[in-house]
Amino acid sequence: MDWGMKNRLSQIIKDDGKCMLLPIDHGYFLGPTSKLEKPGETIKPILQYADALFVTRGVLRSCVPHDSNVPIILRVSGGTSVVGKDLANEGITTSIKEVIKLNAAAVGLSIFVGSDYEHQTLMNLANLVNEAEEYGIPVMAVTAVGKELEKRDARYLSLCCRIAAELGAKVVKTYWCENFDKVVNGCPVPVVIAGGPKTDTELETMEFVYDGMQKGAIGVNLGRNIWQNEHPVAMAKALRAIIHKKAAPKEAMDIYNETKQKGKK
Ligand code: 5RP
Repeated sequence: MDWGMKNRLSQIIKDDGKCMLLPIDHGYFLGPTSKLEKPGETIKPILQYADALFVTRGVLRSCVPHDSNVPIILRVSGGTSVVGKDLANEGITTSIKEVIKLNAAAVGLSIFVGSDYEHQTLMNLANLVNEAEEYGIPVMAVTAVGKELEKRDARYLSLCCRIAAELGAKVVKTYWCENFDKVVNGCPVPVVIAGGPKTDTELETMEFVYDGMQKGAIGVNLGRNIWQNEHPVAMAKALRAIIHKKAAPKEAMDIYNETKQKGKK
C-alpha cells in the first residue's frame, strides 16, 4: 500500500484500529432530515467527538468550517430522492478532481445488492476504486437497502460486504444484525456499523454497537442515533467510550446520563 493511501486511512482509523465516523450526508436523498435542517448547527457541539465526517461536497462547502481538522469522507454517490422511483438508481456525483480539491481523506458510495440497479451500483464502486486508487484515496462502500429495511440479516449483509471488498473497497459500512460475526468474518476488509433509524431507547443503540464491536467491527458510522437524540453530546461521548475504551453498554449509559445531568446537550 502506498504512503498516501496509508496516511489517509490512518486519518480516519485511529491508532487503536478503531473509528467513530459521523454521517451527515442524509440530505442527498432525504432533503432536510429532522435535526439536520441546518447541518452546520447540528455538528457544532459533536464534531469534536468524531474521527471523521461523512458528508457531500455541497454541505461540506456550505456548512463545515474550512479550518476544521476532522478528516472528511466525501459521499460521492447519489442522483435519487426519497420521492423518486427507486433509491437504488444511483450514479457517481463527484469527480476525483473535486475529491482532491476538497482535501478528502476518503470517499464513500452506496451499493444496492439484489436491487434492479445492482450491476450499475457495483460498477460505480469498481470504477470509483479504479480512479481513487490512482491517487491513494480509500473507498468506503455502504451496503444500502433503500426502503427495504427488513433485508438486513446476516446472510444478505455478508454477501454485500464480501462483494464490496472483492471490488476493492478499503472499508465497508453495513448494518448491525443478529450473528454479526458472520458478516465480519466473511469480509476481508474492516467493517463499520451503520446506524439506521433512531432506536426507541439509548440503551438499544449502546447494545447493538457494543455487540458489533465485540464481533469484530472496527467502529461505527452512526448519525441519527446521535444527532436526533435530545442529548447528542452525551450520546457521542458514550458511544466513543464503547468504541475507543471498550466500555460495556451499562458503562456507556452511565456516561450518557452523567453528561446529560451536567447539562451538556
Ligand atoms: C445512507 C447513509 C448514511 O450515511 C447513513 O446510513 C446514515 O446514518 P444513520 O443511519 O446512522 O443515520 O449512508 O445510506
